[in-house]
This record gives sequence, C-alpha cells and structure tokens, in this order.
Amino acid sequence: MTHFIITIDGPSASGKSTLAKKIAQRLGINYLDSGAFYRSIAAFLILNEDSAEDEGFLLGFLQNATLKLEYEGSFARYFLNGVDLSPYLRNEQVAMKASRIAKFGVVRKFVNQNLQAICKKGDFIADGRDLGSKVFPKADVKFFLTASIESRAKRRELEQKTMGTETSFEKVLEQLLQRDEQDSKRKIDPLVKPADAIFIDTTSFTTDEVCEQMLVNIKKKFVVRPSWYRVLIGSFLKKFFKIFFRLQVFGEGNAEKVLGGLVYANHTSYLDAPLLLSILGPNTVFVASKRVIEKNIFIRCVTRFFPLILVDEKNMPRDFFRICNKEIHKGSPVVIFPEGMRSITGEILSFKEGLASIIIHCKITEVLPIYLGGVYKAWPKERLFPVLWKKITVLISKPLCITGHKEGGAKEPRNALTEHLKKRLVDLEKQYKDKYE
Ligand code: DC
Repeated sequence: MTHFIITIDGPSASGKSTLAKKIAQRLGINYLDSGAFYRSIAAFLILNEDSAEDEGFLLGFLQNATLKLEYEGSFARYFLNGVDLSPYLRNEQVAMKASRIAKFGVVRKFVNQNLQAICKKGDFIADGRDLGSKVFPKADVKFFLTASIESRAKRRELEQKTMGTETSFEKVLEQLLQRDEQDSKRKIDPLVKPADAIFIDTTSFTTDEVCEQMLVNIKKKFVVRPSWYRVLIGSFLKKFFKIFFRLQVFGEGNAEKVLGGLVYANHTSYLDAPLLLSILGPNTVFVASKRVIEKNIFIRCVTRFFPLILVDEKNMPRDFFRICNKEIHKGSPVVIFPEGMRSITGEILSFKEGLASIIIHCKITEVLPIYLGGVYKAWPKERLFPVLWKKITVLISKPLCITGHKEGGAKEPRNALTEHLKKRLVDLEKQYKDKYE
C-alpha cells in the first residue's frame, strides 16, 4: 500500500508546526516534526554535557545512537538512546544547538534516514527546512510557509511567554535572525523553497485562514481523475434521469462549492445513489452499511466499479473515519444516507448517529444537505421495478457550517448535532412539498 506525505518547509516561527498539527487532525493522519529530531540530539548532548560540535565527534556519537518515537494520540514523545527528551525540546538553548549541529552532514543523514523510515509506515504531514527539497522530493503535496520577521518574532515571543519563559521582543528577534542565517546559509541542505512547493506568506492571515487555504490546495492536488467508465456512466445517468424522470435540480451551484465534502440525503429508493452520482459527479463515494451490502448481490456487483466506504454500524473503527477523511480531502463528495435504510412511507425517518460521528471525528466544518423529492414515487421500496415518467426534483441546500466540535463519545453533542442536521433536511422537504410536489 502506498502512503501519502505532505511536507511543510519554512523559517522558524512561520507557523509550520501549528498548521501541520491542525491539518494532521483534519485529515486524520500523523504529524512528524523533523525539527524535534535535531532538537532531541541537541538536548541529549546538552544533558550529557557534551559540548563538542565537530563532525568526527558527532559521527562517533550517532553511529551507535537510536532514535525512537512513541505516539500518544497525535502527540509524539522523542527518545534518543532510551532517554525521553520531550520535556526539553522547546528550550531556546536546545533550539540554538539544534540549528548549529544541523549543518553537519552526519547529523542530517541520521535524521533523514529516521524520517524516511517512519514515513513508510503511514500517512504523514511533516515540517522542517529541507523536507520537500531533500528528504521527501516526491512528496504528494509540498508547502513553503513564511511570514515577516516582525510577525514571526511576535508569535515566538507570545509562545515563549505562554510557556513561562522570560523574554522580550528584541531578544526573540535577535535569536530568530541568527537562526535564519544559520539555517539558510549552511552548505548542506539549507532552507530553500522547493520549486514545486505552494508558497504561502502567513503574515496577514489567521491560523484558521491559512489552514483552510492549505486544505483547499491539498484537495486540488489529490483530486483524482475518475476512470473513463465512471465518467461515461455518470453522463448516461444524467440523461437517463432527465428523459425518464424529468429531473430538475435546484441549488446546483451549492454542490459545486463542495469539491470534496460530506453530503447527506434522504433515502427512499434504489434510485437515490445513481441520482446523486449523476448530480455530484463520477468521483462520488457512498457510505454503506456492511450488513446491507452483505445481503444484496446486485449492490455487491456494482461496488466492483463504484467502491463504497463500508461501515459496521455496531463498531465504528478509527480506520473508517480515516478513510472518510482521506476521500473527502482527495476531492470526492462522500455521501451518507443518515436514516440508515430506505423509508417505506417516503417520509424522513429518524437519523442514526453515523453522520454526526463522522462530522465530529473528522472535524468537518461544512456539510451539504440534499433533499431528493419524488424519487419515492418513481421507485418505492415495495416495487420490483421503477415507474417511468414520474417527476424527480432535487433540492440542494447551502452547505451547513458546523462549529464547536466536541471531542469524545458524549451522547449530548452528537444527539444535538443529529437533530440539527435532520431539521435542515425536514425544512427542505417542506419546501419541496409547498413548491414542487
Ligand atoms: O523547526 P525547529 O525550530 O524545531 O528546528 C530546530 C532546528 O533544527 C532548526 O533551527 C534547524 C534544524 N532543522 C533543520 O536543519 N532541518 C529540518 N528539516 C528541521 C530542522
């Protein structure tokens, strides 16, 4: 299995690690802080009172050194020769020494080999100075972040004061200038912008704004070209619904805004999935219940061409959320029918918790409700075949913004979110009944 890697390079305090952590959380992937590798070596040497900083000494030391990471959730602890160095890594003396020893080829080789070995084990977003240019030249997406020296110094001053370190703007500014000089002027693998990296100056943006900008770019890079048969089937379905069911779609512009995103709709008929595929495009992926698929041979055959994200309702593993996240950020609309089954009466049933769980786990901030009107009459649950010439009308709402994600398994916020999502679909149903039925 191939894993993907996103790199962020840039000078100190340009916002790399804050953004890398945020994006790691949003995509459900791991964060790798390459600076912490250099810092771990520096911290170990400081603790051991080894002040020598020449290539020969460092070569001898690193030949027998082992570096290990242990993840506690998305937070990693760094061990060098079994010593947990995590508590010392943010110290300024350690940062300075890390920057000085980082100019030696032996140190860089040691760190790079460790980084490359770790990234073979999963999907990562990694930040540093030479990740896109040297360590992962074939990274899937590369960013280069920078900001004015004043704003970087202000951020670092605030960060240090928050950690209880006595400092001043002038002192931080001087340290940053010195580190910039060391990191960008060294002979081996200096800080450079890789030619194929996306450049972002973060000076006048908030972290959330930059994060969204980066996620849009990640999505664009990942958008996969659908296979020819999917495109063909998609355009056939569009014509099929237009001709045989006089399909009308309202709010199509809203769907175009969600290049990759979470979509939910009411479910009354076997026509629902092909209908949504014809509207949302050939990259659309459906979330389906493992239990239902196992029982239905026809759907099992269809999934050979249109793979589904299968969910075991009794057991929602972390892997399921990771797959949803990955599809969404690859630019695929991911569709879920939150009622969990087709409605016999055509009325909207109560929602299961799956939709809210995906939103909470994947930290989705926008979700698109779609009401499928008239599909029930076109192919109700009890009929063997569809009834042609019935009129189908689809209402696509503006995306719903979701804020204040609550972590964990507490029922309260999930129930409230589920009700909120259902209410929007019921509003659309009312609109359909008043205007279009
Ligand atoms: O990103 P940071 O401040 O934690 O990095 C500490 C030092 O490590 C930095 O001044 C330069 C060095 N470094 C490097 O040379 N190459 C990297 N990929 C990451 C960090």
